[in-house]
Amino acid sequence: MIPLAEMLLDWYARHGRHDLPWRQTRDSYRLWLAEIMLQQTQVDSVKPYYGRFLEVLPNWQALAEAPLDQVLALWSGLGYYARARNAQRAAQEVVTRHAGHFPDTLDAAITLPGVGRSTAAAVLASAFGQKHAILDANARRVLIRSHAIDADPRATATQHRLWSLASALTPHDAHSYNQAIQDLGAMICTPRQPRCRACPLAGLCMARAQGRSHDLPVARVK
Ligand code: ADE
Repeated sequence: MIPLAEMLLDWYARHGRHDLPWRQTRDSYRLWLAEIMLQQTQVDSVKPYYGRFLEVLPNWQALAEAPLDQVLALWSGLGYYARARNAQRAAQEVVTRHAGHFPDTLDAAITLPGVGRSTAAAVLASAFGQKHAILDANARRVLIRSHAIDADPRATATQHRLWSLASALTPHDAHSYNQAIQDLGAMICTPRQPRCRACPLAGLCMARAQGRSHDLPVARVK
């Protein structure tokens, strides 16, 4: 295993947020719903919505058949309501086109409304144990800092570089690794005040070695 992955997994085993509700399940519906809610919303805000939503709509079928008003009411307060509409459309596709099972390939999963490559990867790794890298805001920040990448993060070439880096680093246990990089990004390698002294990657972090932890990722280049 690549040292970065090994250090991250070791740190996660000791300091990770193992009690998060979506870490108690391997059910694709529950994992998918969590990733959709977490796309633009912080963990602490998501938690109560997640629990309520699952109590009322506990599976693909229930969400697919629910009145849209009910879905939107359960989402009310979370924001970005296109996510709720897309979530219901995705559930309807899972039921009608995939016989009630979340698709088990990346290519098929990303055809679902609201499911991008990183969301699909997160669900397939956690639900089915597949080895897929994620690249959301947290993972991106960790990779940019650890590798001191100072190119425009939104440029296509940088995106490609980050995806291949993410894939190369992801170990066999992608599920744990993906959760670990989320937790590092949320708890240690935070956007504004990274806690480098508590970071398991401090010894190999190139941004830290260069004294640039606070300056990376660079703001969007216009
Ligand atoms: N943000 C996106 N996915 C997440 C996950 N699985 N755990 C914590 N935060 C996340």
